[in-house]
Amino acid sequence: MTQDDMKFTVAQAALKYVVKDTIIGVGTGSTANFFIDALAKMKDDIKGAVASSKATAQRLEGHGIKVFDLNEVASISVYIDGADESDEGLNLIKGGGGALTREKIVAAVSDQFICIADESKLVTVMGDFPLPVEVIPMASNYVKHQIKQKIGGTPKVRKNFITDNGNLILDIQNLKITNPKAMETALNSITGVVTNGLFANRGADVLLLGTPNGVKVVTT
Ligand code: A5P
Repeated sequence: MTQDDMKFTVAQAALKYVVKDTIIGVGTGSTANFFIDALAKMKDDIKGAVASSKATAQRLEGHGIKVFDLNEVASISVYIDGADESDEGLNLIKGGGGALTREKIVAAVSDQFICIADESKLVTVMGDFPLPVEVIPMASNYVKHQIKQKIGGTPKVRKNFITDNGNLILDIQNLKITNPKAMETALNSITGVVTNGLFANRGADVLLLGTPNGVKVVTT
C-alpha cells in the first residue's frame, strides 16, 4: 500500500465524522485534498464548508460545495485536516503547506477536530519536521534572532513562498518538542509572529491514521 493509498483510505474514513446539515471546516494539503474529493459525494448532505486556504476553497468550489466566509457562520461542527506530525497526545505540527494560520483559526472555531494522516506522521517526539512559523515580513530577522535565543533550533525563511495572508514562513529545524503547549505559547509571544504550526493548546480530538492494515483511530 502506498502513502497515497493510506491518505485516500483515511480520507474516506473521515466522512463518517461529517455532521449532516451543518457547515464543516476543511483543511489544506494532499490528505485534505483526498477528503475534499470524497466529500463531493455527500455535498448535498451539508450546508457547505469554511476553507483553510485559497487552494482548498477552489477545490471545494470545483466540486460544487458552497464555501462560506468564516465571518458569515455562527459555528462549525467539525474540522477535518491533515498534519505533518502528531504525537500520542494529539499535539500536531501543521503548516507544511503554509496554511497554518487559517487552519488554526478554523480549528479554534470548530466543535471537533478530526486529524487525518498516514501512519508515518505519528511520532514519539515532534520536531523532525521543521516547525513553520508565519511572520510579518518586516519582522523576519528580529523573529529569527528571538527564536534562536528563546526557543532554540535553526529558523530558515521558506524560499519563494508567501502565505495567503501576505506573510513569510520561518521553518525551524532541529527541534525536540517535549512540551508542545509551552513552545506554542512562547513562540506566539514573540512580536512579529502571526502564529506557529504547533497545534497543542487546541490539538486534534481524534486522529485517524491510515495504515496498511486499515484505519487506526487514536484518541487521547
Ligand atoms: C498545510 O499547511 C498543512 O498544515 C497540512 O495540513 C499538512 O502539511 C499536511 O499535509 P499533507 O496532507 O499534504 O501531508
